[in-house]
Amino acid sequence: MTSLIKSVQDIKNVIAESERPLALVPTMGSLHEGHISLIKAAKNECRTTIVYIFVNPLQFGPNEDFNEYPRNITGDLKICEENNVDFVFAPEAGEIYPDIENAKKNPITPPDKLRNILCGRTRQNHFSGVATVIKRFLDIVEPDFIYFGEKDLQQLHVIKWLIKEFNLPVTLKSCPTARESTGLAYSSRNKYLTHEQEVIAANLYKSLKLAKGNTRSGMFSINKSILESLIFLSPFPEIKIEYFEARDKTNLDKVADDAKHGFYYLIAARIGKIRLIDNIEVT
Ligand code: PAF
Repeated sequence: MTSLIKSVQDIKNVIAESERPLALVPTMGSLHEGHISLIKAAKNECRTTIVYIFVNPLQFGPNEDFNEYPRNITGDLKICEENNVDFVFAPEAGEIYPDIENAKKNPITPPDKLRNILCGRTRQNHFSGVATVIKRFLDIVEPDFIYFGEKDLQQLHVIKWLIKEFNLPVTLKSCPTARESTGLAYSSRNKYLTHEQEVIAANLYKSLKLAKGNTRSGMFSINKSILESLIFLSPFPEIKIEYFEARDKTNLDKVADDAKHGFYYLIAARIGKIRLIDNIEVT
């Protein structure tokens, strides 16, 4: 039986009575297969699992979709119930940010080399917002393990930095990207794609696989592999590419053009109003 908890005091009370190891699965709700894979990993490794649901205002820019972001607490609770989550922690903004103006003015700011690359170039305060909210939830819940998906690879690196920077007593767990049968990575925003857009969106992952295959075959350098993938995507004018880059696996630095492994290809693109990201590791 999953219990819904709304206040910081109540979650602290139940945690004090809960068995450890304790897992925290951070989410903004509208749960899908990607979140379920995190919950399953958490259930596998921990005695108590908490899923938090909180649409974090700090990580949305002024022109982004905070108000439109999908919210479905009834459906989310059902999914958590079906997956034997112990607690769903779904606080109001005031519980997390008693002084939101101050939190906005003084966010936790990851280093520029992590924050201002890739998605950070177009999503100005996004990663400061993510770091701030995760630090807040870690301070409240004090879990032993925290779970994130590899789809949000830059976010994963920001959390890795956060844990190290503040010397937080938590182990970061990352889980492989869950995909639809078409290869499209699960995302809460996918539900805003029309069927036609969803079919087109599946080409993003195909383009990543193509780049990986081209690099690994030894035929193409990284830049040439990216070019080939951009050519592959060019018959789809609906796909507006924001970036297609190769980045080092350990620190997201740029990689040499002749690197053959130890990095990721990452893509961000808009289809209509929906912004999608994905990546693939080149091993
Ligand atoms: O990945 C997300 O859904 C969010 O960025 C997160 C980690 C829950 C922080 O708000």
